[in-house]
Amino acid sequence: MEIKRFKTKEEVTKALAEMLLAQVKAKPNSVLGLATGSTPTLAYHELVKDYLLNQTDYSKVVTFNLDEYVGIDSKDKNSYRTFMDINLFNYINIKNENTFLPNLNNVDDIDLSYYDEHINNCGGIDLQVLGIGENGHIGFNEPGDDMDSLTHRVILAENTRENNSIYFETIDDVPTEALTMGIQSILNAKKIVLAITKKTKAKIFKRLLEEEPSSSLPASYLKTHANVVVLVDAEAASLLEG
Ligand code: F6R
Repeated sequence: MEIKRFKTKEEVTKALAEMLLAQVKAKPNSVLGLATGSTPTLAYHELVKDYLLNQTDYSKVVTFNLDEYVGIDSKDKNSYRTFMDINLFNYINIKNENTFLPNLNNVDDIDLSYYDEHINNCGGIDLQVLGIGENGHIGFNEPGDDMDSLTHRVILAENTRENNSIYFETIDDVPTEALTMGIQSILNAKKIVLAITKKTKAKIFKRLLEEEPSSSLPASYLKTHANVVVLVDAEAASLLEG
């Protein structure tokens, strides 16, 4: 993993946006793997600003999101589909039919391998964006999940539901289950960028650097991939020496 340290979270999000833009400019039909959550939001807004200024072309870009809640409609304000629409897709010239999130429409609950097959059929993910949970999850692969998992249905950890409850009226409204790309789906990407910001991620970032790959810290499996860049701000790196 290549670690790039920045002072502020704004610098991290700018660097993340620059990586996405460089990818799309170098390969206009890029396949992007996208995350939701607070970490990449401002980077998506940077892409929107850039689009307004420079009309960067997304007409051939295909996107696959990491995850989606089970039990809320895609049109619900808290669905990850809505998150992507209102933070990015509605404001750039990406085609709606080229944007994918895992869903249960017309598929058996148990077998979500169609999602990985579709990623493969599109040529595989060129650049995968990730955030990290306080418990080390990537996508919604919570501690204990297998390294060789493809897209599957998961029960969310209580800590994940608590953290995500800021977007809901009460914690009881936070879905208990989600669909997520698996660790192997993520590791299949050609390049991965993990953005880590804020003090709340300092403990997990330190553990990520110190621990060997294991299921107790799903993000540690990124160490087995040859092309991972970690963008981290000073708050998240505050428990490191030097
Ligand atoms: C979201 C996702 C999650 C988040 C993680 C960090 O699509 O896959 O793994 O990246 O929970 O969330 P934030 O950025 O809100 O701290």
